[in-house]
Amino acid sequence: MLQKLTVFSGIQPTGNLTIGNYIGALSQWVMLQKQYLCIYCIADLHSLTVMKNVQNVNQNILDTLSMLLACGINPEKSIIFAQSNVPQHTQLNWILNCFAKFGELSRMTQFKEKSHCNNTNVVALFNYPILMAADILLYGTHKVPVGKDQIQHLELTRTLAKRFNNIYGNVFIVPEIIIRHHGSCIMSLSNPTKKMSKSDININNIISLLDNNKSIIYKIQHAITDSDTPPLIKYDLINKPGISNLLNILSNITNTSILKLEKEFDGQTYHYFKEYIIEHLNYFLNKLREKYYFYRQDENYLNNILLYGSEKAKAKASVLLNKIYHKLGLQ
Ligand code: TRP
Repeated sequence: MLQKLTVFSGIQPTGNLTIGNYIGALSQWVMLQKQYLCIYCIADLHSLTVMKNVQNVNQNILDTLSMLLACGINPEKSIIFAQSNVPQHTQLNWILNCFAKFGELSRMTQFKEKSHCNNTNVVALFNYPILMAADILLYGTHKVPVGKDQIQHLELTRTLAKRFNNIYGNVFIVPEIIIRHHGSCIMSLSNPTKKMSKSDININNIISLLDNNKSIIYKIQHAITDSDTPPLIKYDLINKPGISNLLNILSNITNTSILKLEKEFDGQTYHYFKEYIIEHLNYFLNKLREKYYFYRQDENYLNNILLYGSEKAKAKASVLLNKIYHKLGLQ
């Protein structure tokens, strides 16, 4: 039998996940399980770079894991683990540090943005993309699904892999980037030219996967549309970013094409359109929430999944790391 190709991706255990995270990433992670061996990493070490509530990291990991399971990540098929439980990530991180150039990392736009808004300007923020490269390369990963904001980090990962391979032979697989399909980027509800972000300080801009029915009603009712008269429910990112964003959300949670939705809402008011979204969003989120709380209350089960996942991850990672140590003459 042909061996399945490996997919790797990571998520930081910070904050409440949003409908944007679901549509843009998690739903795709679920689909990829059909075809690939998927390795999903809860990147707790990455989240230390923005040291908020460090004492809650463990609880945050369990929150994130419960949501991954609720969305349909299957721990019997895929490997799910917390990054800090697999020491090979930090080991390879150091080695890759010795191959990465100062200039390359200085050019990372996310580093520039993050170090501006964080008053604790720590070195780890600079190093962040190298740890990401270690995460990915450690498993002989073929494909990495990421959002646009991570492409630069993935390009660095590819550069480091090639640079190492040029000296030591084919040790690393140079991973391909899977960029999310068009229309998978969900925007802020009040400023639809900006991405919906779980760290947005205005919670009315985001739909959290754990929002209750009342806040969904409030948030959708207040979501920005436009003042076209008569109202026009049409996908047009340039002239109608608010309506396009709402169409996008509805299309994804109901599995209906935008074209079909445009036809269905032809001639309808924005009020009617929003009522329809509220109904479907609540239906979708109620189901998801139910599953989330079902998993979340059983910490024993969750910890077992992490333990099982980290054992599998360690076994895989140590094979490649040993090979690298050997190449570098470290044993
Ligand atoms: N930095 C990624 C993010 O914030 C999370 C992440 C960590 C990741 N390690 C990774 C993503 C490896 C892809 C591959 O979204």
